[in-house]
Amino acid sequence: MPEQRDKRRVAVLISGRGSNMRALVEQANGYEVVLVASNKPLAPGLAWARERAIPTWTWDSRGVEKAVWEEALEQSLTDHRIGTIALAGFMRILSPEFTRRWSGRILNIHPSLLPKYRGLDTHKRAIEAGDSVSGCSVHLVTEELDSGDVLAQAEVPISAGDTEGMLEARVLEVEHQLYPEALAEFVER
Ligand code: GRF
Repeated sequence: MPEQRDKRRVAVLISGRGSNMRALVEQANGYEVVLVASNKPLAPGLAWARERAIPTWTWDSRGVEKAVWEEALEQSLTDHRIGTIALAGFMRILSPEFTRRWSGRILNIHPSLLPKYRGLDTHKRAIEAGDSVSGCSVHLVTEELDSGDVLAQAEVPISAGDTEGMLEARVLEVEHQLYPEALAEFVER
């Protein structure tokens, strides 16, 4: 059972470039990223992890029944004695059964100041709303999307004339500081 495992043994789940995963690996403090897992076999982040000899697990989730895919993931998490899961740009919604089993042991980083802008297109929505500040949040993952307890947040100013891409880049830089710090604190709790 996950609750009996060492919290400091972390699996990072990614679907794409994995820049937050890299930040978690490079700034690891009190925890260790012992597995990088993905639902996208060609995710660039996987190649980065392999180059550094970090164990990886992947299975293309397209067309695979969620319960079957998650069972295979769970086996890998067990094999690596994972105690904490960090989602980092993982674009597949986990089942309620999975999130319940890992309750209190899965974190995510979201590019907005939650509870504002749950879901996708956060930067576009913040700009269109005329907000002067955005940011990012590290939160616990529950059955409801982007709705678990917020563990840490950082604000980022929105400048006049910002495009979505400009804001995304500014927030991402702050994500790379916030996530490793929040995870380091989390494993100490
Ligand atoms: C980040 O903006 C993160 O907040 C969001 O998805 C993006 C992932 O980027 N959940 P990366 O794969 O970590 O570079």
